[in-house]
Amino acid sequence: MAPAAVLYGAPAPGLVEVPKGARQVSPLIVGSEDLAALPDASLDEAVILAPPGTLERDFVLAQALRALKPGGAITAFAPKDKGGARLRKALEGFGCTVSEDARKHHRFCRAQRPEAPTGLAQAIAAGAPRIVSALGLWSQPGVFSWDRVDPGSARLLALIPKLAGKGADLGCGVGVLAAKVLASPAVTAFTCVDIDRRAVACAQHNLDDPRVRVVWADARVRDDDIASLDFVVMNPPFHDGGSEDRALGVAFIQNAAQALHRGGTCWIVANRHLPYEAALTAAFATVEVRADAGGYKIFEARK
Ligand SMILES: C[S@@+](CC[C@H](N)C(=O)[O-])C[C@H]1O[C@@H](n2cnc3c(N)ncnc32)[C@H](O)[C@@H]1O
Repeated sequence: MAPAAVLYGAPAPGLVEVPKGARQVSPLIVGSEDLAALPDASLDEAVILAPPGTLERDFVLAQALRALKPGGAITAFAPKDKGGARLRKALEGFGCTVSEDARKHHRFCRAQRPEAPTGLAQAIAAGAPRIVSALGLWSQPGVFSWDRVDPGSARLLALIPKLAGKGADLGCGVGVLAAKVLASPAVTAFTCVDIDRRAVACAQHNLDDPRVRVVWADARVRDDDIASLDFVVMNPPFHDGGSEDRALGVAFIQNAAQALHRGGTCWIVANRHLPYEAALTAAFATVEVRADAGGYKIFEARK
């Protein structure tokens, strides 16, 4: 029988050996399994492209060690400048004996799950979903701006008018914008889309409202169920896998325009260095800058 193995993340081809049949457990890959839901001591092997944030990384490593059988193999790796240099210490903190090597700007740490790892429960608790008082919402380390309102979103929140009808938030996160939009009783239906399973799970908790549908999906992919909308609100992402990807925001703009009916509006906030004007002008009939301050621009685009 093939070993029970998991892969967390999407390493570049050839970077690391991935066991045949390994199940994907990254929350950023739609359709993946949830590492936190796997039974204790059920895996033979875990290959982890470790995320950079400390709480998120330790949570993932602890969950992997929890789910591994004693003696099961863990390979954790990351770019040197994105947490790779701290992996060894993190694994040693869980009682692992680590062998480390470096290749292609990455650090690779290999260990076997000890009989009795230490500190797993603490790391799992520190990285778990919880209500964050600064947001008044459920959130989890690792999701976008997990413990504070993003300054761009805060600016958009201050400007969004009372909206009405059917709408969507593309890249909804834990639902910071949605919570404001839903305060308007004239909103009849609201779809929230995010690619991060953790954000989607939090948004489901946070937006317990019969008008809301939360969808775990890639908002770049057209969804025929998100159509004929009256409005879209969004703070589109511009990072993919840690590096800036302006095409991501452009794809969001194009899909927002397609999802609206003629005359529908899109409220969008973007860092002012991002060149979204051309994409907005191409996709919408009118584009107005509603605010330009503090490094952010807020656009109201009408189809
Ligand atoms: C800038 S954040 C905004 C989050 C939230 N709307 C807010 O204002 O706090 C962008 C969000 O887009 C999500 N995201 C990134 N790429 C995505 C994609 N291809 N499809 C859907 N969501 C995506 C991220 O997980 C993140 O939650």
